[in-house]
This record gives sequence, structure tokens and C-alpha cells, in this order.
Amino acid sequence: MPEADDNGQKNYHLDIPMKNPEYGLRGSSAYDWGMSNRLARVFNPDTGRTLMLAIDHGYFQGPTTGLERIDVDILPLAPYADALMLTRGILRSTVPPTYQKSIVMRASGGPSILKELSNEEIAVDIEDALRMNVSALAVQVFIGGEYETKSINNMTRLVDMGLRYGMPVMAVTAVGRDMERNAKYFRLACRICAELGAQFVKTYYVPEDFETVTASCPVPIVMAGGKKLPELDALKMAHNACQQGAAGVDMGRNIFQSDAPEAMIAAVRRVVHENWNPAEALEFYETLKSEGAEKKDKAPSK
Ligand code: R5P
Repeated sequence: MPEADDNGQKNYHLDIPMKNPEYGLRGSSAYDWGMSNRLARVFNPDTGRTLMLAIDHGYFQGPTTGLERIDVDILPLAPYADALMLTRGILRSTVPPTYQKSIVMRASGGPSILKELSNEEIAVDIEDALRMNVSALAVQVFIGGEYETKSINNMTRLVDMGLRYGMPVMAVTAVGRDMERNAKYFRLACRICAELGAQFVKTYYVPEDFETVTASCPVPIVMAGGKKLPELDALKMAHNACQQGAAGVDMGRNIFQSDAPEAMIAAVRRVVHENWNPAEALEFYETLKSEGAEKKDKAPSK
């Protein structure tokens, strides 16, 4: 029998105004629920930041040092990351479908290191991205590069497809070898990506005026790792980027090429989500490293 509406036991909380659910991620207030939900799988809602582990290097340079055996060397790091950034080939061949964190899928590619890198095409169909249950797509954008317009067109087409299905797009600002990496360049590149629809942007840290890069970009910026640095320098870079407005990091070589990758990713996690300073994080790294891989700091809470 249906419930009578007059049983006198209902509580409408008439004194409590209806709350509008809010996520609060930079630039996201007008997104649809599915888009926001996917972003919330990448950017931890408690901290507003993400620790992405970039392992997509093989898409243009083959078996990169540290990534020769992703099943052996990388899967143990996965529990520490909020998201794995990888290709669909590695996802399907190597990552168990029981993996519960988010996937940011490399969706552009084409040229190898033997050719002009900016000459990319879209490399993943939106339907396949949905089939793989990914949380965001990643596309390289070559501002100032030879195929600048083509790479921007790849991005805007992915953004259009993504908007149809609630799939965020991360633009990755690629810098050519002879281009100057400074705040002026990254302000330009990041702003163009955001203006043309990317829901978040991955870009490099610069020691001077990085906060102007984050301030002038209306969507979250995730710091790119870049070539391998000494651990303390990498921790300082991640710390500075987060303190200067980055919504986390997407690091590859500085984690998986470390002497102790698991200790390193655990330390980076503390920097990103708990604002640890670089010295504290380095000490933590050294302790975990000396204890060996077995006594790891498992299952991080944030
Ligand atoms: C290139 O731009 C790609 O996104 C890389 O394959 C990767 O994500 C770079 O990561 P990292 O520089 O931290 O090793």
C-alpha cells in the first residue's frame, strides 16, 4: 500500500534552506554534473588538488627509462596517485580493471621522436574513452610550434566531444626545444588553452612569476614534472608550484626515475595534499627509502 502523505511523521526541515551542492574547483561552477563528477575523481575534493602519475611517455618515445615494465615497476606506485596519466594501450594491456582511482587518458599522438613532434592528431575516440571509463582526456598543445593551429584544433575538437558526454579535457602545453620557458610564454599558452575550452591545463613550473601563470588561467593548472632532478629539487618545485596556485602535479620521471620511486611518490603526495615543506618531505623520502620498499606508507588517506 502506498505511503499516506498525512501520517504526521515526515520531517521537511523547514528551518534549513536547501543547499546547492558545490564542488568549488576553479572555473567549474557552470559544468554539468557528469563533468564535475569526473573532475572530482581527478582533483581530490578535500584538498582541491591532484597527484597524477604521468606514465604516457611511450606514446612518442617508446620504452622510456623506468617504464620498461609498467606491470613490475609502476603498478606498485598507483595506490599513491589520484590519477594515472597513460595511453589506452597500457591501460588495457597492463592496468587491472579493478583499479579504483582515476585515469587521465593520453588522447593525442602520431609523430615519434624521429619526426616533428607538434604534428599530432587526435588518437582516441570519445566513445572509446567512455568505454574505458576514463576521467579526463589529455591533449598536447604546441603554442608557437610548427603545427600550432593543428594541435589547437585537436584540443577544441576533443573539448567539443567531451562537452557532449561530460568528459573533461586537460591541455598539455608542450614547449619546443629552442623555445624559452618563462612565465610570459606559459601565461600565453595556458590562457589560450583555457579560453578555447580546456577544463584544466598541465604546464611547467618556472621559478619567476609562476603565480601570474596560475592567476591568469581561469581553470586549474597542474604542474608538469619534466626531466629528472635531484629529489629535493623536485620536491621544492612541487611545493612552490602548489603554494603559487597550482592545483597539484602531474609528474613522471621525477617519480619513476627516482632511486626509490615509492618513497618519492609518497613524499610528493604529502607536499601536494598536506602542504609539507620540501625539507620535511625529503626526510620522509629518505626514511622510507632506507626502510626499503616493503615498509611502505600504504593507502594514503587524502
Ligand atoms: C609529454 O609532454 C607527456 O605528457 C609526457 O609523456 C609526460 O607526461 C611527461 O612527464 P614528466 O615530464 O613528468 O616525465
